[in-house]
Amino acid sequence: MEKPLTKNFKADGTPATLEEYLQSGGYEGLRKALAMAPLEVQQTVKDTGLRGRGGAGFSTGVKWSFVPMGDDAPRTKYLIVNGDEMEPGAFKDRLLMEGDPHQLVEGVIISAYAIQASTAYIFLRGEYRLAAERLSQAIGAAYERNYLGDDIFGSGYDLDLYLHTSAGRYICGEETALLNSLEGRRAIPRAKPPYPQVSGLFGKPTIVNNVETLCNVPHIVHYGVDWYKGLSKTADAGTKLYGVSGRVRRPGAWELPMGTTAREIIEEHAGGMQEGYSLRGFLPGGASTDFMLPEHLDIPLDFDAVTEVDSRLGTGTLILLDDKTCAVRFVLNLEQFFAQESCGWCTPCRDGLPWTVDLLQDLVEGRGRLEDIEQLERMTGFLGPGNTFCALAPGAMEPLQSALKYFREDFENYIAKKVRVAHG
Ligand SMILES: Cc1cc2nc3c(=O)[nH]c(=O)nc-3n(C[C@H](O)[C@H](O)[C@H](O)COP(=O)(O)O)c2cc1C
Ligand code: SF4
Repeated sequence: MEKPLTKNFKADGTPATLEEYLQSGGYEGLRKALAMAPLEVQQTVKDTGLRGRGGAGFSTGVKWSFVPMGDDAPRTKYLIVNGDEMEPGAFKDRLLMEGDPHQLVEGVIISAYAIQASTAYIFLRGEYRLAAERLSQAIGAAYERNYLGDDIFGSGYDLDLYLHTSAGRYICGEETALLNSLEGRRAIPRAKPPYPQVSGLFGKPTIVNNVETLCNVPHIVHYGVDWYKGLSKTADAGTKLYGVSGRVRRPGAWELPMGTTAREIIEEHAGGMQEGYSLRGFLPGGASTDFMLPEHLDIPLDFDAVTEVDSRLGTGTLILLDDKTCAVRFVLNLEQFFAQESCGWCTPCRDGLPWTVDLLQDLVEGRGRLEDIEQLERMTGFLGPGNTFCALAPGAMEPLQSALKYFREDFENYIAKKVRVAHG
């Protein structure tokens, strides 16, 4: 099984050095890309069907194609790496940046070349200090070898790459809030349109892509479209860094063909459930996705198949719910995070998330009423898609709405328990 994204990872956890990266074919994709026209690089990525690994799964090549190109295009354009990764349960991008920082640097240079950006930024989660250190070293080494800077490999193409460490809010991962943050403004999402591809950072055309997305690009250019499509088990191309957290024997992350089933990930790679625990459900892609059930274990985890069971692949990092964990407390924990991280820009989210937390807290502390469950159900609509300024609040409602659908007895039990207490 080929594992292009993690092939240079070392067992001792140290990063692949530049020499090791070069020995494994590193920066060959860049040489090849610079000999191609930028639009040809865009087309190659588009032909693979690569879908963004930041959560929404939008086609990377299609997104790039919205950037103005040619002589009339603005001279300043930006490529930004989204390395905020604050979604609970997600840790895949950190592994990529710590394990093989040159892979991301090469992905940035090729992708920036494809859209003819003159400046690139890596927007990094503030707590990722080790990744920051390793990326800084890799960027320095890339400048020394002229993979970055002026006239890269004598091609006439110039690119500067800066590492920016975030002050640390979940909303900074939303791509337009990220732009505001990078400009030194309050990190709140921007209205779309205009889309960043046309008017982004400082009003210039900007592409924001996830770390894992960009790490795929050097391999696509180096080894070609057919090779990349052949890595996957389904029509959704490439490999995927899947992860598991919860009561399994070996929590972790693994690079596997896109479309691997949750059964294989949990039972083979994560070693199965710990002794005495069984699986009740799982969030397939981080905290802001809908629960899937044990009966969904054999569904291929790719972007399309997961939507057929009313969930989303999201980040592809699974969070498991076991039979000894209460679904209400599980969801309460997530809603507390989302309420704390609401940027406060729009009312349904700013007021609705703390209200949701209060309702859940009332339930687990024995103050709940049956009407509160109906109210929670209504909240998933009030905070659902189309009612808020960005996807934070609708994302926060996904684990709640699916917990109400699949684990309703956990909610009702709290009320039944209280009734028993009230009647002695
Ligand atoms: C609240 C919120 C947080 C987000 N956090 C991240 C993040 O940490 N990393 C990321 O790549 N995308 C994140 N996204 C998605 C980005 O807005 C954007 O879709 C993504 O960076 C695009 O990259 P891709 O096309 O390569 O997936 C977040 C979205 C929302 C609404
Ligand atoms: S949905 Fe929440 S996070 Fe998004 S803009 Fe509104 S208040 Fe801010």
